[in-house]
Amino acid sequence: MVEKYIINGGARLEGEVPIIGAKNAVLPILAATVINGTTNVISNVPKLKDVEVMIKILTSLGARVDIEGDTLIIDSSTINRVTLPEELVREMRSSIILMGALLARFGEAVLSYPGGCEIGPRPIDLHLKSLRQMGTEIVESHGFLYCKTDGLKGCEIQLDYPSVGATENIILAATMAEGTTIIRNAAREPEIVDLQDYLNKAGCRVKGAGTSVIVVEGVQKLNSCEHRIIPDRIVAGTFMVAAAITRGEIVLKNVVLEHLQSIIAKLKETGTKVLVDRDEIKVIGPEKLYPIEMLQTLPYPGFPTDMQAQFMALLTIADGTSIVNETVFENRFKHAEELTRMGANIKTLGSVAVIKGIKELTGAKVFAKDLRGGAALVLAGLAAQGVTEVENINHVNRGYENLYVSLNKLGANIISV
Ligand code: EPZ
Repeated sequence: MVEKYIINGGARLEGEVPIIGAKNAVLPILAATVINGTTNVISNVPKLKDVEVMIKILTSLGARVDIEGDTLIIDSSTINRVTLPEELVREMRSSIILMGALLARFGEAVLSYPGGCEIGPRPIDLHLKSLRQMGTEIVESHGFLYCKTDGLKGCEIQLDYPSVGATENIILAATMAEGTTIIRNAAREPEIVDLQDYLNKAGCRVKGAGTSVIVVEGVQKLNSCEHRIIPDRIVAGTFMVAAAITRGEIVLKNVVLEHLQSIIAKLKETGTKVLVDRDEIKVIGPEKLYPIEMLQTLPYPGFPTDMQAQFMALLTIADGTSIVNETVFENRFKHAEELTRMGANIKTLGSVAVIKGIKELTGAKVFAKDLRGGAALVLAGLAAQGVTEVENINHVNRGYENLYVSLNKLGANIISV
C-alpha cells in the first residue's frame, strides 16, 4: 500500500526525541548471526522495513527469529539453505553482505544480482574481486551469482575504494577463513566498529575497525552472544536538521557524539546552535540560516552522503548560495527537482548542486524517490508555508521508525494516509 504524508508546515519543533538503533549497524550484524550457528540476542533493534526484510531472509534460510520488543533472538543453528530468495535480494541491495556470512559457514551462497537502486548503479565489483581473492569461485549467469569455495583463505586485500559493504563482506568471509586477512583502505564507519564488537563477542578475532586497516584472524569455533546496537547517527542528524529548518529547539537523547562530529560542524556553519552534553544534544534553529560555502560528502569521518539530502532541504532557505558536492554516489540528487516544486532554487550539474537560498518554501505535492531524499522532503514540508504531500513514504519507512509520530510529538502537524 503506497503511503503518503500530508504536512501542514510552519510549526517550530520543540521537545525531546530518543534516537533508535542504527539501521546500517543492525543489517550487517543480522547477516553475521548466520555464522556462529547458535543463539544471538540483539537488542536496540529499530522497527524498520529493511530490518523486516533481513528477518524474512534469515527465516527463509531456516533460522529461527523471535521478536521481543526491540530485541531479536536469532537461532541460526537450524539454517539449512544457502540460496537467498530473489525477490528479497531485489528489495534490499544490502543483502549482498549475506554472501560473506554464508561462505564463511557453508562455503556456498546463491543469490540474484542485487538490483541497482534509486541512488545509482551501486556495483558490487569490489565485493566479488575480494571474495575471489579469498578463494571463492563466483559464476555470474542469468542474473544470478553462484558462489562456492572449498575453504576460504586469509589474504591481504587493498580496497580500491573504502566501500562500507565490501569491507563488511570481507570481514564476515574472513571470520573462519584459514589464516589472517588484512583489509587496507577499509571503510571506517562506526557501523563497522559495531560489527567488529558483535563478532568478537561471538568468538571472532577482528581488530582495527574504525581505521583503514582491519585484521581478521580466522577461528574454528564461534559461540552464542548478546549485543546492543549503537544509535543511528543518520536518524540523529535528520532530527538535528528538523530543529534547524523549523527554527525550533530539540534535545536528542542517547546519541554517540563522536559519530556526529562532521554533521555538528556543518550545522554550526549555518548558524544553528548545537549544545552537547555526554549522550545528549540540544539543537536550536536560528532566526536566519547562513549558507554553506562547500558541503562535500565523503567516506567517514567526512560528511556522510546519507545526510546530503537533508542538508540540501535546509540550505534551500538559507540567506545566500550554497554548494553541495556528492562524491560518494552517482545519482543522489533526485530530491532536488522535488524541492524545486516547492519553490527552491537548485541547479545540479553532475556531482555538484548549487542552491540559491529563498525566503520561504511553499507546500506542494512531491514524490519521495529514495530513503534519505524522502526524509529531506518531509523536512522541507515542515518548514514550507501551506500543505505539502509527500508521496511514496514507504521509502522513508525503510530507515525511520514512524517518522511522522516522532515529529508530531515535537509539534509537527502530519497526517499519514
Ligand atoms: C552503505 O551502503 C550504506 N548502507 C548506505 O546507506 C551508505 O550511503 C553507504 O554505505 C555509504 O556510506 C548500508 O550500510 C546498508 P558503499 P554501501 O559500498 O555499502 C561504490 C542509507 O541511506 N561501490 O560504501 O552500498 C558505490 O557504487 C544507505 O542508509 C563500487 O563501485 O555503500 C558507491 O558509489 C544508502 N563497487 C560507493 O562505492 C563496489 O563493489 C560507496 O558505496 C561497492 C561500492
